[in-house]
Amino acid sequence: MGLFITFEGTDGSGKTTQIQQLTAHLETEGRIVCTTREPGGTKIGNQIRHVLHDVNNIEMTAEAEILLYSASRAQLVRELVLPRLAQGEVVLCDRYVESTYAYQGYGRELNFDMLRRLGEFATQGVRPDLIIYLDLDIQAGLARKATLAATGQEVLNRMDKLEQDFYQRVRDGYHELARQDSEPTRWLILDASAPIETISQQVWARVSALLESVIST
Ligand code: TYD
Repeated sequence: MGLFITFEGTDGSGKTTQIQQLTAHLETEGRIVCTTREPGGTKIGNQIRHVLHDVNNIEMTAEAEILLYSASRAQLVRELVLPRLAQGEVVLCDRYVESTYAYQGYGRELNFDMLRRLGEFATQGVRPDLIIYLDLDIQAGLARKATLAATGQEVLNRMDKLEQDFYQRVRDGYHELARQDSEPTRWLILDASAPIETISQQVWARVSALLESVIST
């Protein structure tokens, strides 16, 4: 079996950069890496992503939103994650079910029992071996996003247009999720305001230890 690692964080926390660095590191070690993201990652998932991110879809209900994220996830798990893990690859996913718990559960304050059931259904109970959470002050994250948007490196989407209180609930929610996880050691919580190099070293320290423990068992 391979290794399943997910990256989580509020907007602008630098997940993309860290995924790129970890991919490069793993590949120099001779690992086969599959990087993917949510929503998206498959042909169907990318079509769903388009609907979810379209800024014109202002009438989208919270219920429709959660079902669309879940549909994209269900497709990703079956079409990509499970087959790649079965081939022994390292699968790196930019966001996973924890994003739904944080954004739709804590952010939109939807019913948690329902979200958990839906999460189990969409993922078939497939849990990450490691969740890397990049923790960042909300103001700093939004400022980072605004800079990326102003320089044309990123296009703002429907979820980028929410108010600051929403993101604060999401950030607090992530901390709560880590505390309540049945395996809290699965979480690696890092300060995303640290230099990029420092963060990638912390990520590598944990991932290389995990790889060794997988090989030796
Ligand atoms: P994306 O452009 O991928 O942003 P980021 O670089 O921050 O990951 O947009 C994903 C957005 O969708 C982001 O604002 C978080 C949100 N989201 C949810 O609200 N629920 C979910 O289940 C997922 C996967 C993402």
